[in-house]
Amino acid sequence: MVDERIAEAAKQLRDGGLVAFPTETVYGLGADATSPEAVARIFAAKGRPRFNPLIAHIAEAGQAAAEAIFTPDAHRLADSFWPGPLTLVLPRAPDGSICDLACAGLTSVGLRVPAHALARELLNRVGRPIAAPSANRSGRLSPTRAEEVAADLGDTVDMILDGGACEVGVESTIVACLGDRIALLRPGGIAREAIEEVVGRPLAEAGSRVRAPGMLASHYAPKATLRLDAGEIMDGEIGLAFAGNLSGAALDLSPRGDLREAAASLYRHLRWLDASGVETIAVGSVPDQDLGCAINDRLRRAAAPRPT
Ligand code: TXA
Ligand code: MG
Repeated sequence: MVDERIAEAAKQLRDGGLVAFPTETVYGLGADATSPEAVARIFAAKGRPRFNPLIAHIAEAGQAAAEAIFTPDAHRLADSFWPGPLTLVLPRAPDGSICDLACAGLTSVGLRVPAHALARELLNRVGRPIAAPSANRSGRLSPTRAEEVAADLGDTVDMILDGGACEVGVESTIVACLGDRIALLRPGGIAREAIEEVVGRPLAEAGSRVRAPGMLASHYAPKATLRLDAGEIMDGEIGLAFAGNLSGAALDLSPRGDLREAAASLYRHLRWLDASGVETIAVGSVPDQDLGCAINDRLRRAAAPRPT
């Protein structure tokens, strides 16, 4: 049964369709990365600005060499963390197969080899790189369950592969290796500390020269406003705690203070609190280390002032 669904999804993708599929981080909205027509459908379905490049997902690290130029650091990172929640931004190979639109016309490309078994099986069967942003409308919370994809994107996708809840729950860490400098473009499922240990030096911050065009201040946003580092819940607010640090909170990201558990429940909890219709969600502070960096990054973006 699962096998038939994967076969059908692979066919849809080869035929230029849009398929939402699970990865270990969040659900992706996939299309054939070599086809500009297929990739254009992703931008349309998400309402995503075309200057924002997509991550190309590949089945095996070995296939990445055809698409990008690997520095020694990039090789080390791929060896250590692929398959897994790491995206490498690298110079595009001159004869790579990923289309310009997927890369938003940049000379670099974002590549990722996901670890999720269903995703890998799908990628293997398609046999081409699959462009996939998170499977949500632009600016909204990323989905970690198939039902959330259906609620957000509905009929605009040809198929949704259900793989249950995503284990990591926050997006991949994005690291740019575009020369001697290695920069952290987005904190995510692999901790900065682990990456620095592999490359043997501190990562640079995303600067004006290299950055992820998608990293707008206001992003990953629920409808409600967020008040961060709350010490107490005020009138008219609903609370989201970490390790019991906010008394009276409706939900706790991880009562036992486990950052992995907190990352895995972050978007699900925010969606649930948002559905209450409350105007403000008070959020207790989360330690800024390990996966906590990715959690705090997403909370800050969700709390940022938004257009309209
Ligand atoms: O975990 C993830 O990364 C998920 C799953 C589905 O793989 N994908 C995801 O994609 O979060 P998306 O599109 O929501 O975020 C990708 C980010 C965007 O901020 C984009 O600007 C950046 O990656 N990006 C992609 N290619 C890039 C490039 N060549 N240079 C700089 N940034 C890039
Ligand atoms: Mg996204």
